[in-house]
Amino acid sequence: AERTFVMVKPDGVQRGLIGEIVSRFEDRGLKLIAGKFMRIDDELAREHYAEHVDKPFFDDLSSFITSGPVFAMVWEGQDAIAQVRTMMGETDPAESAPGTIRGDFGLDLGRNVIHGSDTEEGSAEREIGLFFDEAELHDYERIDETWLYE
Ligand code: GTP
Ligand code: MG
Repeated sequence: AERTFVMVKPDGVQRGLIGEIVSRFEDRGLKLIAGKFMRIDDELAREHYAEHVDKPFFDDLSSFITSGPVFAMVWEGQDAIAQVRTMMGETDPAESAPGTIRGDFGLDLGRNVIHGSDTEEGSAEREIGLFFDEAELHDYERIDETWLYE
């Protein structure tokens, strides 16, 4: 099954949205295989957002993502990377459909509540490796697994 890296950003944590967000993925049938409540430092911010380091918004993005604790997770399931992106909505909450996480809980591009790996080849694997050791990824079976897949 496919794995993706997901993170409730500092705004989502401080607004009390961790439980709501975790529930949505659990309800969908995705399996939580790793979770860590942690603070991102400047170095990890640069690595995680390497593709944005030279963009004009990087300083704001970096100070935001390091401003408070985040809840980092790995979710596993069929087509997990794209399914999570669909459930998140667009990058800009203002353009996100109701029913998506950003469309239900955000209004502003710079405070969009959640991160999920993009569908670029290798993105998810790279991000999982930045945040988790292999030993922190747990293998188990959901009791409903036989009913989630044909
Ligand atoms: P992430 O899951 O956070 O990676 O969001 P994304 O993949 O939907 O968007 P992207 O990787 O392109 O941008 C990363 C983050 O930078 C976004 O979540 C925004 O918070 C922020 N960002 C992206 N574009 C802009 C911009 O033009 N202006 C500002 N202020 N922030 C931006
Ligand atoms: Mg991104």
